[in-house]
Amino acid sequence: MAKLAIKGGEPTRKKPFPKWPVFDEREVRALKGVLESGLWGVGGQRKREFEERFAAYQHAKYGVAVTSGTAALEISLRSLGIGCGDEVILPPYTFMATMIAILYVNAIPVFADIEPETYTIDPKSVEEVISERTKAILPVHIAGRPADMDALLSIARRSNLYVVEDACQAWGAEWRGRRVGAIGNMGAFSFQSSKNITSGEGGIITTNDEELYVRAWSLHNCGRLPSGAWYEHHLPGANYRMTEFQAAILLAQMERFDEQTERRIENARYLTSKLSRIDGVKPLKDDERVTRHAYHLYIFRVNPEAFGEVSKATIAKALQAEGIPVSVGYSRPLYKEPYLEYFKKCPLSCPYYAKKIDYSSLNLPVTERACYIEGLWLPQYVLLGSREDMDDIVSAVEKIRDNIDELKEVA
Ligand SMILES: Cc1ncc(COP(=O)(O)O)c(C=O)c1O
Repeated sequence: MAKLAIKGGEPTRKKPFPKWPVFDEREVRALKGVLESGLWGVGGQRKREFEERFAAYQHAKYGVAVTSGTAALEISLRSLGIGCGDEVILPPYTFMATMIAILYVNAIPVFADIEPETYTIDPKSVEEVISERTKAILPVHIAGRPADMDALLSIARRSNLYVVEDACQAWGAEWRGRRVGAIGNMGAFSFQSSKNITSGEGGIITTNDEELYVRAWSLHNCGRLPSGAWYEHHLPGANYRMTEFQAAILLAQMERFDEQTERRIENARYLTSKLSRIDGVKPLKDDERVTRHAYHLYIFRVNPEAFGEVSKATIAKALQAEGIPVSVGYSRPLYKEPYLEYFKKCPLSCPYYAKKIDYSSLNLPVTERACYIEGLWLPQYVLLGSREDMDDIVSAVEKIRDNIDELKEVA
């Protein structure tokens, strides 16, 4: 008789994990308040209030609330004057938006590998790809874990580069006590529906620099100036404004955010202590400089040798059958994305660039291993569960490992 659920055995777990998104009367009241105010967009006060509240929460002076994290990244790059012929260094283990934002401003994505123990951009690899064209580094605080900001800021200072933080998964995350988003020149956050604070869609730009704030504000609002007239347009901006409905929901979401973050951290620590005892399973490593991990994802690695060379995709399917919502996450490095073809002429071989970038022979080994072989993800809402929920995850992983021969037949 089969033991594994994928082969017809009894699943480890039949109960669902906590539901996401979480809301209560506070969101309902907030939405009703906006509806009844008649100010659903321009003229309302909630967007402004959220910008101030969220920026302060991230230890930033300024915030500009926009339509998405992608828009926040794109506007940040534009605010810094990054465009044609400029190179921006990023990791290839991230959501496509990190790269698309660079391409949308006609700049060139240049890839640095990630670190094997953290999956954040590897500063040594960054140094290797800096050229006379490099304008900025775009580290991603992947899964809610801050990248090595000490090393990256030091490289940026030495080479005169901007740092734009992709903090789209990292609300409230801290690097040595400083919240991410304004450790570099600018930061971008997302509030899309899977995110730890959400309004369905939305994003925010954070910065400590007043001039950059005014540029970003103008670019998100059709090129207007904060003190200018409605039909005066100074910069080539467009409409990227967040609505009052989104801002009202986000203000309510923030009220329970610290408590949820603490719960995720506690459960993640417990999972790490248990999963690291399973032969062939390696959670990412803790770093004491990360004083707060936002845990948008819980990432762990599987060693194929210990799992009978069964692919991570099959392991993920088997875990799903056991009732655990694991996913394979990013399953190819960004430099292998087929839609790069659309950018082949411009910007990738644009005359302004005077160089031609070709990703076809690029192979960044740590990223490739993370994508193809070892990286598995648990979503953030799982970490809002109980100790028993975490024990079920551990039992399911153990069960797969102990019955790997059954899984070999599926593979
Ligand atoms: C790392 C990263 N960057 C950027 C984004 C883009 O955010 P949005 O979906 O709000 O545009 C996301 C969202 O998934 C993300 O995870």
